[in-house]
Amino acid sequence: MRVLVVGSGAREHALVLAASHDPAVTAIACAPGNAGTAAHAEQLGVQAVDPAAVAALAVDWQADLVVIGPEVPLVAGVADAVRKAGIACFGPSAEAARIEGSKAFAKDVMAAAKVPTAHSEIVDNPAHLDAALARFGPTWVVKDDGLAAGKGVVVTPDYDTARAHAMTLLDGGHPVLLESFLDGPEASLFCLVDGRTVVPLLPAQDFKRVGDGDAGPNTGGMGAYAPLPWASPTLVDELVRDIVQPVVDELAARDAAFTGLLYAGLALTSDGPQVIEFNCRFGDPETQVVLALLNTPLAGLLHATATGRLAEQPPLDWHPGAAVTVVIAADGYPGVPRAGDVITGGETEGVLHAGTRRREDGAVVSHGGRVLSVVGIGDDLAAAREQAYARVAKVHLPGSHHRTDIALRAVEGAIAVPVR
Ligand code: AMP
Ligand code: GLY
Repeated sequence: MRVLVVGSGAREHALVLAASHDPAVTAIACAPGNAGTAAHAEQLGVQAVDPAAVAALAVDWQADLVVIGPEVPLVAGVADAVRKAGIACFGPSAEAARIEGSKAFAKDVMAAAKVPTAHSEIVDNPAHLDAALARFGPTWVVKDDGLAAGKGVVVTPDYDTARAHAMTLLDGGHPVLLESFLDGPEASLFCLVDGRTVVPLLPAQDFKRVGDGDAGPNTGGMGAYAPLPWASPTLVDELVRDIVQPVVDELAARDAAFTGLLYAGLALTSDGPQVIEFNCRFGDPETQVVLALLNTPLAGLLHATATGRLAEQPPLDWHPGAAVTVVIAADGYPGVPRAGDVITGGETEGVLHAGTRRREDGAVVSHGGRVLSVVGIGDDLAAAREQAYARVAKVHLPGSHHRTDIALRAVEGAIAVPVR
């Protein structure tokens, strides 16, 4: 099987690496990729958001399976174009990708499927903002009603901060989504979906804020771990039954059947699990930990998903331990990151590349906000965490920053689902 992975982050590096361990895979390419994917995959140039260009590349390279990593190409219809060219594609249609691309669409689908989620209102006129804010908060949750790479959300107990963010969005022509605040630990559940059948992967937790102790602004994700030692053993089955399967069925009923990876971002509240958001693709950095624990050959699994054969697959085979990843971010991230710093230690085992590129002189340099995602695995979460941070210590990137508390509270047993 010839596998083409589209994207250039650590998620794509993890996908490429897992595919490279699948004995059914004869060739791997990554477009556009990064300095890390180049070690396992042919690097192909492409405008990942251009449906015709990706489809032409897939035909030209004779791909048997195209795996699309990021949301922007999916929302733009790249998966539709690849399938139209007759090639199996792991990733939803533009229609189904609206579950991530439009928060209003997602809320409508969830309401129809009776899936619990935060109460919300859309504000598109500044004259209505103050009255709407008065109906929410404190704490206020203010979102951009569109794709914002995890950075369009402000969660704050401060009215002026909430109002200022909403005004910035409105001034930029973006409708604002206000939401009720959901308390309780967050979980990310990734599910393979072939239109009908849902196969959950291990649950994970992501760290959205830039600083230790959840200080500072939201980012695309600064670290993750899997599985969740504090979760009940029946949690995943309950989430599939009550949340994911109803949404998959609702999308199919709307002629927007979902194929690919449906990612439920959840808050486990005292009222039960509630959806924070759905994403239409593998999450980053959770993918790095989930795939580190998956023994089942990945490419065959994704091909079965893309071709409607998930129900025939044997149960997934997991490594029994835990995995932790720590993101190393460039100076300035999540604001404007500084690029061009030389990275040393980037070839250390467990180091996945995100914003990196190889310079003409051979040096690997930073080329994005999240630069590396360093993965450790172990028999338990404490051991995985230790390995991840030992590997972080072997990497050097001038001016970089990373969180030192990824998975720490879980190791300490300090996370619990609130009860009423
Ligand atoms: P999103 O881009 O919608 O995933 O939001 C980014 C982050 O903001 C989430 O991972 C949560 O940490 C936080 N967040 C979003 N919506 C809510 C909510 N309704 N209640 C509490 N926290 C939220
Ligand atoms: N881990 C957050 C995201 O991928 O959106």
